[in-house]
Amino acid sequence: MPMVADVLPFKVSPLSGALGATIGGIDLSQYLDAATVAALRRAWLENVIVVFPGQTLTETDQERFCRNFGELEIVRSARAQDAGHPSIMLITNVRDTGKVTALENGEMYFHYDQCYYEVPADATILYAMEVPKEGGHTLFANCYTAYETLPGDVKRRIDGLKALNYYDYRRDPTVRPGTLNPDAPRWAHPVVRTHPETGRKALFINRLMTISIEGMDAVESGELLTFLFDHMEQARFIYEHKWTVGDLMMWDNRCSIHARTDFDPSQRRMMRRITVRGGAPVV
Ligand code: OGA
Ligand code: MN
Repeated sequence: MPMVADVLPFKVSPLSGALGATIGGIDLSQYLDAATVAALRRAWLENVIVVFPGQTLTETDQERFCRNFGELEIVRSARAQDAGHPSIMLITNVRDTGKVTALENGEMYFHYDQCYYEVPADATILYAMEVPKEGGHTLFANCYTAYETLPGDVKRRIDGLKALNYYDYRRDPTVRPGTLNPDAPRWAHPVVRTHPETGRKALFINRLMTISIEGMDAVESGELLTFLFDHMEQARFIYEHKWTVGDLMMWDNRCSIHARTDFDPSQRRMMRRITVRGGAPVV
């Protein structure tokens, strides 16, 4: 009898000690049967982020692949909507696409996607179409292990707390804002959420978007958040992805944060993004 792993129609290899795996030997432009999708889902849940190198995907191919993991989220910032493909957002500094773009340039602080909404995405799937010669890497941090390695007294202190997450598309889209725009979306979520599929707990806050802890004065909240951000962003929890054209990266947005390194704005960088709709975070 072959082992189950021997009959998987793809190969999984770890990316780093912190999190992540590469999945090879699979062409995502093709139809995937239910058993393959279930096995991919298991590999993704286990590794938190998975990258599929060497893919050639049209917009429709990427949409079809993403639908295997849930309903596609319509882009909620109207600024970045594409009428024909309402779930696609181009993360790019390329000006001649004829499409609306987002997060064009520069370094980006660690964050969870859409955590300023009541229902943040479960998954984000980013496809590299053009990459700069240097920089523009994406860093991913494992928020399960960040939570698990907290000292016991800190775990007890944050148990049951909620934090306010805020994001402004128009100003400061990549760095933490100094002052708040009253019209920008915001939502309070548990500081620690339990992943609905793995049952593991993860820290659900981030330096870019989490602005305060509910029910705490500003100084105490600021100090606690800074301690937690510094803890989460330690090298031991991080994998840094240097993109190659054709990489499709899928991250679990319930238990990982990501950030971007700076790059030369005169170099083209184009990534096509889709998010899969989630459920409201639970404690
Ligand atoms: C995103 C994002 C980072 C990058 O698409 O949500 O944060 O490297 N992208 O472009
Ligand atoms: Mn993001």
